[in-house]
Amino acid sequence: MSETRNQGLIARFLAAPPDSVGKTIFVAVAVCLVASMIVSSAAVALRPVQEVNKLKDKQMNILQVAGLFEPGQNVAEAFKAFEPQVLELATGRFTDQFDAATFDDKAAASEPDLSRALSDDPAGIGRQALYRTVYLLRDEAGGIDKVILPIHGYGLWSTLYGFIAVEENGNDIFGLQFYQHGETPGLGAEVDNPRWKAMWNGKKLRDDAGELQITVAKTQPAAGPDFYVDALAGATLTSVGVDNLVRFWMGEQGYAPFLEALKAGEI
Ligand SMILES: Cc1cc2nc3c(=O)[nH]c(=O)nc-3n(C[C@H](O)[C@H](O)[C@H](O)COP(=O)(O)O)c2cc1C
Repeated sequence: MSETRNQGLIARFLAAPPDSVGKTIFVAVAVCLVASMIVSSAAVALRPVQEVNKLKDKQMNILQVAGLFEPGQNVAEAFKAFEPQVLELATGRFTDQFDAATFDDKAAASEPDLSRALSDDPAGIGRQALYRTVYLLRDEAGGIDKVILPIHGYGLWSTLYGFIAVEENGNDIFGLQFYQHGETPGLGAEVDNPRWKAMWNGKKLRDDAGELQITVAKTQPAAGPDFYVDALAGATLTSVGVDNLVRFWMGEQGYAPFLEALKAGEI
């Protein structure tokens, strides 16, 4: 009985004119279904390629912040110059509890056992991983030439993720670079402007008394030009965010114990 009814419905559908409401809806739904299947299959199939590109982009940024990037170079090959290490932030010492090649910093930051909630949170990150992967660049004698430290924190619209390269004395900045953010092009996104990034080269973190003095501001602080990076024009709020996040990561809750050990030649 119901089979005959179904056949009747199908016959009526087929006999309807091509621009009938039923056929129009049917075609629209069929096109949506096919298109969504193609898009989702492409997303799944391309995920490994995206992961490889993400890794390559990160490696390229580490090469850039260390001054080793050359256009056209084999990024994976050039990246072998770096020695990744997992650092315990509180002690400022490396740990072999984790494999530095596979340690997932982002996952660790939300893992209860591997992170902590921040009550004093000037960088606006909420939680902080207890361990971070850092990258060492060694000189020919095997000593440390530079350390590349991941940093992140809130700007105006987004969390900025980047790296700071510090010289072997644990105090002189070689470079700073963000590889991911959502600040406004022409305003906050000028953090990517090579002229602004170049200002970081040669700046110092701490004065002779050991006080953290590095500052991003509209006017030079009393500590002097060695500790001063000019704020971005028309993007004071992003600049304040960068100031906060750099001072947070270079401070006691961040890499200060490690940088002190590096300065003392204990690393
Ligand atoms: C659409 C729009 C986007 C903006 N994007 C940014 C931004 O990415 N970073 C930022 O600091 N300020 C941004 N601003 C400007 C801020 O609201 C604020 O005016 C500015 O940070 C003040 O900087 P100044 O004191 O250097 O003028 C934006 C403003 C508008 C209207």
